[in-house]
Amino acid sequence: MKILLRPLKEREDKAVYEMFQEMPANENGLNNPASGLSFEEFQDFCKIKVANSRGECLREGYVPDTCYLLYIDDVPVGRANLRHFLCEALLKRGGHIGYGIRPSCRAHGYGKILLAEVLKKAKEKGIDRVLITIEEHNQPSRKVCEGNGGVLEKISDGECYYWIDVL
Ligand SMILES: CC(C)(COP(=O)(O)OP(=O)(O)OC[C@H]1O[C@@H](n2cnc3c(N)ncnc32)[C@H](O)[C@@H]1OP(=O)(O)O)[C@@H](O)C(=O)NCCC(=O)NCCS
Repeated sequence: MKILLRPLKEREDKAVYEMFQEMPANENGLNNPASGLSFEEFQDFCKIKVANSRGECLREGYVPDTCYLLYIDDVPVGRANLRHFLCEALLKRGGHIGYGIRPSCRAHGYGKILLAEVLKKAKEKGIDRVLITIEEHNQPSRKVCEGNGGVLEKISDGECYYWIDVL
């Protein structure tokens, strides 16, 4: 199996666009602001996401984050957002990393691979303790997190708080 994780580029191809369109606008707290965009609108979205990763064009209250795409055997199967640092809002909900696998590619172990690859990027950015928050009922995501060393700190208001020491 060929695994590749790469940052989103300023212009993306149809394969990446189609993956974003397959993913819901919001699922278990993971937002997809590209849902429902036309292909050309999606290019504007990509430009803004790349700017966000440089700390530019950020919405009020948002911190810089990098969007990564996971390819398995040259097919885009998932995406993740790595927030470069935490703020009050992210400490409460969101944490450092949000991730999703496109519905047609789930339950193949790709979620675990995606988080493992993004943790390497976190380490490169100097983040050695990662917070991930997950809705209590979201068993697949909790398994993905626990399978990557996530330690449950607490469950509060239906949200699980996991920490991962990045080695
Ligand atoms: C969470 C998500 C990324 C998992 O991706 P995935 O590729 O299906 O996950 P994996 O195949 O790596 O499976 C991880 C574990 O979940 C289990 N699992 C997968 N689908 C499941 C389901 N529908 N119900 C229960 N367990 C499930 C797998 O068996 C595996 O368990 P194991 O560790 O015991 O083997 C994916 O379901 C998703 O994108 N969900 C929507 C967005 C989301 O919830 N993101 C997380 C926000 S915090």
